Amino acid sequence: MLNHEIFEKNIGLMVVGVIFAISFGGLVEIVPLFNLKETTEPVEGLKPYTALELEGRDVYIKEGCVGCHSQMIRPLRAEVERYGHYSVAGESVYDYPFLWGSKRTGPDLARVGQRYSDEWHRAHLINPRDVVPASIMPAYPHLSENLIDSSVTPKKLQALKTLGVPYTEEQIASASSDVQGKTEMDALIAYLQGLGTALTQKR
Ligand code: HEC
Repeated sequence: MLNHEIFEKNIGLMVVGVIFAISFGGLVEIVPLFNLKETTEPVEGLKPYTALELEGRDVYIKEGCVGCHSQMIRPLRAEVERYGHYSVAGESVYDYPFLWGSKRTGPDLARVGQRYSDEWHRAHLINPRDVVPASIMPAYPHLSENLIDSSVTPKKLQALKTLGVPYTEEQIASASSDVQGKTEMDALIAYLQGLGTALTQKR
């Protein structure tokens, strides 16, 4: 009897065989990425988020900005012309979890850093319609009133350090005073202003 006949006449064995073939194919594609320098090493000039930026990132997550904004510029001409250099894996190595997103109700934000002034962002977040009349983005005026809880900030840096983000002891020690008295608005703007700048603004 031919070998393939054993598979073809035994549906259980066939199922196992198919699962094996697909898993093997998947692993061959995925596993090398865990060891490739290009996907695991930070791009040159990438710094861990400052304490304030990190708090801003948490505001971004909490407010669900990722539900309308991606942070992933694809290597397609239309995207690169509109947003700038396409995103590379080495820019996201300090992001736990990453915020690439998959929904673009609003524009991609991967390189929004330094594109507008802090004042623009403040006005836009308080009421988007004040600066972009046709905007459908929600208003976030409460961010100017909420203070950052500085007592947990050092713990956030510490937690990321255990995951391999190279925070120094000094950065962790000063994290609390770095965000003391800052509002969620200040933190979010600091975060937005740093987005995508490591790759495009060095040199
Ligand atoms: C319901 C969908 C929606 C949500 C949620 C949302 N946005 Fe937007 N956002 C938009 C749309 C649409 C635009 C384009 C119009 C405008 O500029 O206001 C936009 C524009 C922006 C811009 C300007 C981008 C550019 O390149 O001009 C920034 C920055 C921004 N949003 C940040 C945020 C942040 C931060 C949050 C979370 C606090 C957020 N957005 C939540 C829909 C959304």
